[in-house]
Amino acid sequence: MGRLSQIMPQAVTQQTLSPEQIEAFYHDQFVEDQVHDFEALRNGDTLNRIVDIGGGVGYFARSLSEKTGAKTRVIDMDIISVERCRESGVDAIQGDALSPPKTGDESVVCFNLILHHLVGKDEQATRTLQLQALRAWKGNVSYIFVNEYIYESAMLDISGKLIYLITSNKILSMVGSAIARIIPSFNANTFGIGVRFRAHQEWCKLFAEAGYQVSDSRLGQNENISLPLRALFIKNIRRDSFRLEPKD
Ligand SMILES: C[S@@+](CC[C@H](N)C(=O)[O-])C[C@H]1O[C@@H](n2cnc3c(N)ncnc32)[C@H](O)[C@@H]1O
Repeated sequence: MGRLSQIMPQAVTQQTLSPEQIEAFYHDQFVEDQVHDFEALRNGDTLNRIVDIGGGVGYFARSLSEKTGAKTRVIDMDIISVERCRESGVDAIQGDALSPPKTGDESVVCFNLILHHLVGKDEQATRTLQLQALRAWKGNVSYIFVNEYIYESAMLDISGKLIYLITSNKILSMVGSAIARIIPSFNANTFGIGVRFRAHQEWCKLFAEAGYQVSDSRLGQNENISLPLRALFIKNIRRDSFRLEPKD
């Protein structure tokens, strides 16, 4: 280890998906639920600008604007997503969720299915990145809206940890890809990079550590879990939404 790295703490870096992997997310499958939950957790608050972090090609932002007249903005690291937002009339900035560009007009930020992609080289680094993205907005917005995948396990919140272990490890990912050729439900487009799902209470613990309390939440519908996925001790998979307010 060099002398400088002994003195300076090393920055934690995100393991990012390739453009081809990101392209798989150019769909509006979850937007209706996300907009519905957003409105349900809004509590009638008057909002200025709603910023969608990792907002992709802008389906959520556009739908929210059309339904409620809200001013929205997408921040995404993927330039193709940002260009597609702009082509469809959605305000968008290319930026990193870990050091987001701010303009001062933000009332609420949304994290729709992005936190589980903020993964580092190990569990600790992954937690650090997810905390950093949430803390980046402390003191700048009234509240944060999160829509996230929930993986409840038959024991010890093990499923999310196992999925991260497999998807972040090159050799295990090669084995996983080979299995997925025979059992398609085993497929993950995050093989070789990593993805970190958590149980409902695990997410709540992370939010508390970032300095937020869950003031309201909505539980999604349980998805079907195929037999092979039960080998990962998965009990329930769903998408929940949370309203996070600063603790102090
Ligand atoms: C699974 S997609 C979610 C898209 C959309 N929010 C949705 O709910 O369907 C994750 C998105 O997060 C973006 N992303 C991942 N890491 C990011 C980062 N550090 N900063 C900004 N955007 C990021 C990706 O480019 C992608 O558009």
